[in-house]
Amino acid sequence: MDTDLLTGTRAVRKRLDLRRPVDDRDLRECLEIAVHAPSGSNRQPWRFVVVRDPGLKSRIGEYYRKGFAANLSGRTPRPDQLADLASGQHLADHLGEVPALIVVCTLGRPPAEPSALRLASFYGSIYPVVWNLQLALRTRGLGSTLTTAHLAYEREVAELLGIPFEEVTQVAMLPVAHLLPGGGKPVRRTPAAELTGWDGWPTPGEVAAQ
Ligand SMILES: Cc1cc2nc3c(=O)[nH]c(=O)nc-3n(C[C@H](O)[C@H](O)[C@H](O)COP(=O)(O)O)c2cc1C
Repeated sequence: MDTDLLTGTRAVRKRLDLRRPVDDRDLRECLEIAVHAPSGSNRQPWRFVVVRDPGLKSRIGEYYRKGFAANLSGRTPRPDQLADLASGQHLADHLGEVPALIVVCTLGRPPAEPSALRLASFYGSIYPVVWNLQLALRTRGLGSTLTTAHLAYEREVAELLGIPFEEVTQVAMLPVAHLLPGGGKPVRRTPAAELTGWDGWPTPGEVAAQ
């Protein structure tokens, strides 16, 4: 079991090689691996659109930039968020130049009357395939980031790509490129021990004792 793959795969935005093409065969193989993900009742509701056409990528890049800017407006970032924001802006500025964009879609539209169960089934049946895909790409030296900023313009992007908007929901877009050389920063996460209760919700005392 390659633990480094699981603990070392992170969002790549600045270390994407915008000049080196990505092999279609690599993308096909990664997609075949990704679809081994679980889904509710094994429905396998995923669909993928791989975008390589420069004109299409450029149009999607424009929508992404607008969505990214709208998402930021009115927010005051914490100091520890500034580096991520700069890298997010970098990706937004160059999205149309990334060799391949993979739009991940799921069949159906989000539940009109959302309940915890329905939402879990709808979104929970698609995000595992997204992460599987990111991990598979990483094994081939390809970097990606799970992005959603373009969803502010989901309908426009659906029209651009011929996605039937009334029947299909876009959930994420992965910009994919070869990783540029260099280490990249380590993945930083709060240790699970600080977030886990045993036989019940974690209590402050329990967390402090760990
Ligand atoms: C639901 C979801 C939506 C996200 N949307 C965006 C996005 O639109 N743009 C972006 O640059 N990153 C996006 N991210 C990536 C997160 O910012 C990233 O996974 C997180 O900051 C951890 O980064 P790290 O793995 O590099 O530590 C999204 C991640 C998730 C799970």
